[in-house]
Amino acid sequence: MARDSVDPVTLDLDTLRPYPDAGDPDSRAHDAADRLLLDESAEARQGVARREIAVIGDTFGALALACASDASDGVVRVHQDSLGGERALAANARSTGLEASVASLPLDPELVRDARVVLVRLPRSLEALRDIAGLIAAHAAPDVVVFAGGRIKHMSLGMNDVLREHFDTVDVSLARQKSRVLIAHGPHDGRDPEPSAARLRIGDTDVEVRAFGGVFAGAALDIGTRLLIDNLPDTIPGHADDPAVDLACGNGIVAATLALRHPGLRVYASDESAAAVASARATAAANGIADRMTVARDDALASLPAASASFIADRRDDRPAPVRRCSSRAAPGWRTVDRLEFGPPLPPVARETRRPDPSDRPHPEVHGHGLDTSLSGRLKRFQPSALRLGRRRRQRTDRMSGLPRQSHG
Ligand SMILES: C[S@@+](CC[C@H](N)C(=O)[O-])C[C@H]1O[C@@H](n2cnc3c(N)ncnc32)[C@H](O)[C@@H]1O
Repeated sequence: MARDSVDPVTLDLDTLRPYPDAGDPDSRAHDAADRLLLDESAEARQGVARREIAVIGDTFGALALACASDASDGVVRVHQDSLGGERALAANARSTGLEASVASLPLDPELVRDARVVLVRLPRSLEALRDIAGLIAAHAAPDVVVFAGGRIKHMSLGMNDVLREHFDTVDVSLARQKSRVLIAHGPHDGRDPEPSAARLRIGDTDVEVRAFGGVFAGAALDIGTRLLIDNLPDTIPGHADDPAVDLACGNGIVAATLALRHPGLRVYASDESAAAVASARATAAANGIADRMTVARDDALASLPAASASFIADRRDDRPAPVRRCSSRAAPGWRTVDRLEFGPPLPPVARETRRPDPSDRPHPEVHGHGLDTSLSGRLKRFQPSALRLGRRRRQRTDRMSGLPRQSHG
């Protein structure tokens, strides 16, 4: 039961910072769901050592650090899918002097082995929750109590059902500030996460795809990714020291397709999501190309030297800051961004931007596909030649879809 009148958290959560930290004094590294999770679990955590507590899905480290500050002995084990979340935890642990009290781990048995209290910030994907619940049920202590919470608008009854697949009882807390916590006891039928698998025919290439829970598109080909793959050039620049890059690789389908279509080509795939990286590695192994496909967990392409990549396939949601950072990884003189966009209610739109190319080299190229529903925002970012191409294509696709034509101002 939530205890509104008593705040059992000794750590001042307001001292924690989000990541990236834009310096806005009003931005917080915790929310109502985090506070409810901490309140709901406070009694269960009493007398429980840090080494018996695990936290999964912590946004910026508030859950793990509050648990660590309330307990002693050992470290609180933490898994965060997002690299940004992990960096926030590390920074907040440093600023609160709790570095030695928390440890970031992959989503594997050591994360939850013999844990007696597990706090979970609910993922949006039921498959991701299934991986988490199965892992806890397989490896935590038999008396483990799981507190899984989130904002009500992001929760569904399906989450209760997924928890019931692995726990005898699932109780629901009272709602507070538009948040709720599911409380699970009695682990059973545990299992380690296994990626879902599919064999897809993409053009004339058979590609094995693997996906752990929560990865974009699962073990399938997203329509936007198909658009990107269909528009990849026949000749891909690259060699051992300059691999073709699949930026924001998700399940690794673009990198694998490139490597399978071009025997001998080396590819470098990166994503900031731990589940995506694990999936892309599993995809590489399933296609027998792990020796030519490197997969890294990275924020955009931060680990690559500047001006080092001749070819980048870019299939992210529209994120302006990483786009700018990635541009700096392209080799000098990069010139063509063949950015294919798709966003409801518009049909697919293809357009091209051109930058001056002092060296006039035929490459490098960035082939991309992003999701951006703001038409005016998109048009503003492109050169006049790009608008012409975009307009032509959109008029054609508008006729095909029967949608009213858009005004381009
Ligand atoms: C639209 S999905 C595309 C995944 C895959 N390329 C595909 O087409 O199926 C976007 C991916 O971008 C990743 N992502 C978002 N921000 C990122 C960042 N800053 N650095 C690296 N990856 C990022 C997400 O984790 C997600 O896997």
